[in-house]
Amino acid sequence: MKIRPLKRFKRIMTVPPDKSITHRALIFGALAKGKTVIKNPLASLDTLSTVDCITKLGAEVKLGNEWTVKGGKLFGTSLDCGNSGTTMRLLMGVAAGLAQTTTFTGDKSLKSRPMDRITKPLSLMGAKCEGYKITGGELHAIDYEIPIPSAQIKSAVILAALSAEGETVLRGRTNSRAHTEVMLKKMGAQIATQNGVIKIKKSTLQPTEFLVGGDPSSAAYATALALLVPDGYAYIRGVECSYERMGFYRKLIEAGAEISIDETEDNVANIGVRYSKILPFTVSETEIPYLIDEIPLLALVACFARGESVIAGAGELKVKESNRLVETAKLIKSLGGEILLDGDKIRILGKGNLQGGGAYEGNDHRMVMTAAVGCAVSQKEGIVAHPECVEISFPGFFELFE
Ligand code: S3P
Repeated sequence: MKIRPLKRFKRIMTVPPDKSITHRALIFGALAKGKTVIKNPLASLDTLSTVDCITKLGAEVKLGNEWTVKGGKLFGTSLDCGNSGTTMRLLMGVAAGLAQTTTFTGDKSLKSRPMDRITKPLSLMGAKCEGYKITGGELHAIDYEIPIPSAQIKSAVILAALSAEGETVLRGRTNSRAHTEVMLKKMGAQIATQNGVIKIKKSTLQPTEFLVGGDPSSAAYATALALLVPDGYAYIRGVECSYERMGFYRKLIEAGAEISIDETEDNVANIGVRYSKILPFTVSETEIPYLIDEIPLLALVACFARGESVIAGAGELKVKESNRLVETAKLIKSLGGEILLDGDKIRILGKGNLQGGGAYEGNDHRMVMTAAVGCAVSQKEGIVAHPECVEISFPGFFELFE
């Protein structure tokens, strides 16, 4: 797909619903006895992988304007999680609580991603984990130090803890998105967070109703366009805005971007963005979990600031849907930008613009959308080879883009 530079960008819009919350509403609904209702769910390839997996596990899912999940009685089986890390990792936590064996598979990208970060704590709880095969049953609570600030690790252990005897305590790097904690609490789970320590007791979940807000990671692409296209403006309605998801927006504001975040309901905001002059910025390792999926886009924006921006502690990008550290550097170089990988640090030497004329050959959904924005804000047209893979998280991205 050829993408020409964009001359004008002014838009009042919405973005697709949040992927993380939709996955969780489905999985938690499958655990609860009775009917959970999901309003404004995201129907994308990743969330449909979750629908497929929980159906195989024994839940009854109805798709329509709103989705319903009838759960409560799950059994071990074999699951194909497609490209979705959240599906595989969270369902491994569920599988640990089932008395039978569950086997997992996924596409080439997913099968190359580390799962020992999940199976290690699950084994400590008493699950039998052999590669992609998990036999669960009698679990016991653990006191565990989360080594990486990953919501997927945290969520997998929390899900196993729901069926473990005793009180599980999670310490360490628990500072990642907190949808699991918030949503499970709403379903009656005994879970509490204090000073970054999470305590979970064995719980039965009650069905509930979830309303899913717009995905801030999807809204980020329109935000970058409004910010970088001269005279650009975007007003994005109804975006999920919990603290742990807003790091990208906070960083841009810090760098001089004119962005307004008006919270209209609890954790849902309308976001206004205007074309702005961006100053170079620094992202520290502690801020990474709050903008983890937006780092390639943030690196692209840094090309438009004059001077050096640094994103530190970005090592986790190596194990996303692709090695996003390497892919981001390749993309930015192909667009004429200056970028250097220095261990887990990304250094971008911004020149205030991008020459363009580049290409992104890969099939990682977030890289494709970052590349599309990159071509649109450059001086020369560019190419993305696999536009279809945006269906993983942002169905209709290119229709909206056009
Ligand atoms: C997600 C957590 C993040 C993120 C992923 C979705 C989630 O992964 O990159 O796209 O829904 O929990 P990590 O928690 O492994 O960093």
